[in-house]
Amino acid sequence: MTRKQVHLAAHFPGVNNTTVWTDPRSGSQIDFDSFVHLARTAERGRFDFFFLAEGLRLRELKGRIHDLDVVGRPEALTVLSALAAVTDRLGLAGTVNATFNEPYELARRLSTLDHLSEGRAAWNVVTTSDAFTGENFRRGGYLDRADRYRRAAEFVQLARQLWDSWQPDAIAADPGTGTFVRPGAIATVEHRGTHFTVEGRFTLPHSPQGHPVIIQAGDSDDGREFAAAHADVIFTPHGKLEDGRRFYADVKRRLAGYGRRPNQLKIMPGVTFALGDTEEEAAHNAAAIRRLQVGPQTALAFLEQVWGRDMSAYDPDGPLPDVDPDPSEGVSQGRVPIKDRAAVAAKWRALAAEKGLTIRELVIEVTGRQTFVGTPETVARLIDEHVQADAADGFILVPHLTPGGLDEFVDRVVPLLQERGVFRTDYAGTTLRDHLELA
Ligand SMILES: Cc1cc2nc3c(=O)[nH]c(=O)nc-3n(C[C@H](O)[C@H](O)[C@H](O)COP(=O)(O)O)c2cc1C
Repeated sequence: MTRKQVHLAAHFPGVNNTTVWTDPRSGSQIDFDSFVHLARTAERGRFDFFFLAEGLRLRELKGRIHDLDVVGRPEALTVLSALAAVTDRLGLAGTVNATFNEPYELARRLSTLDHLSEGRAAWNVVTTSDAFTGENFRRGGYLDRADRYRRAAEFVQLARQLWDSWQPDAIAADPGTGTFVRPGAIATVEHRGTHFTVEGRFTLPHSPQGHPVIIQAGDSDDGREFAAAHADVIFTPHGKLEDGRRFYADVKRRLAGYGRRPNQLKIMPGVTFALGDTEEEAAHNAAAIRRLQVGPQTALAFLEQVWGRDMSAYDPDGPLPDVDPDPSEGVSQGRVPIKDRAAVAAKWRALAAEKGLTIRELVIEVTGRQTFVGTPETVARLIDEHVQADAADGFILVPHLTPGGLDEFVDRVVPLLQERGVFRTDYAGTTLRDHLELA
């Protein structure tokens, strides 16, 4: 039996606590050089695509900005358009919200990126999880979850209608008169739906991919259903083996309901990694990275999200607070809310008491750890095993350093995946759909 091929993507380090910025090698989150370095590294490693997240409002806790948000969050499609000029084959994926944009305009921007990059554009469709972000927009836009996904579905269908409205051969060359439009080759789009009314002709010819690749990130039942109906790729947090297999089976099973085949939707969990020359060194590196990821302020910020109180007077290297969480709502803005904070606090207290953990040690313990830890051989084997076991079709790697966080992976792990025969040694096609085997 042939082995499944692994798909890899590079997440530009985000503005959350997986990014370490106290490391002397840590660079800017917004300088073009940082984007170029990571994108070129991913392309050197023959990755499927480069990925940018989106943040539309600085997150707050009780009115105070915290976290890495202050390093800035540029607009994805602008950055990707610039990257199109300095890369050749790498897919360029941008997160853009479907709740706060308009289909005609966004379809144009995505089609433009697909033209500029000769077929490498992807759109990660997100819907937002909070009203706080919506306050930045005229629409004031907070729909409930089901309506947000209904809007997103209508949005994607309408965007596809616009992209399809020019026949691929709409423009013809004539030696005498130059170019001309074949009669009837550009359709007028007429759409009257619940969320949008659009009537008019699209301004751009059919793009190299026809439809830019659609990615979905969101975990609810509505989100999974949306992905099964409309997405080419899912970006999911389910990166562990058993959890991943459950998620994979669940989503692939939904595809049949939309007349789609399992290989038309690629499942790519976001994962982290830590490497070393020996297993011990890798474990040591992983622990050291975790301590840098959860510095003293970050530890207190995490605690504040659960307790809903100002924790700045507490010692991060001391015990947990003996006060109870503030039960009032809405303390943490712009983040996925923590359900039942009192129960979380009780669980954390019990864990800290059992293991004798300080605030910082506790936060390190409960905020996850690197997915793949080991020598390059171990990490290559684990990635291959996850993919062959149908826990994933590949991974979106989230490095902990900007911009050099992928260098070692590309230099040391990628060649081993290639030796195993599960990862390309060169791009076979030119478009992102080719790389993802979606065409
Ligand atoms: C892995 C992952 C990555 C996400 N990245 C972003 C992002 O960059 N920007 C954003 O606004 N929302 C992001 N989201 C939020 C989701 O798109 C979605 O709006 C939110 O999870 C609510 O949908 P749900 O209820 O289906 O999970 C992400 C979600 C997941 C699971």
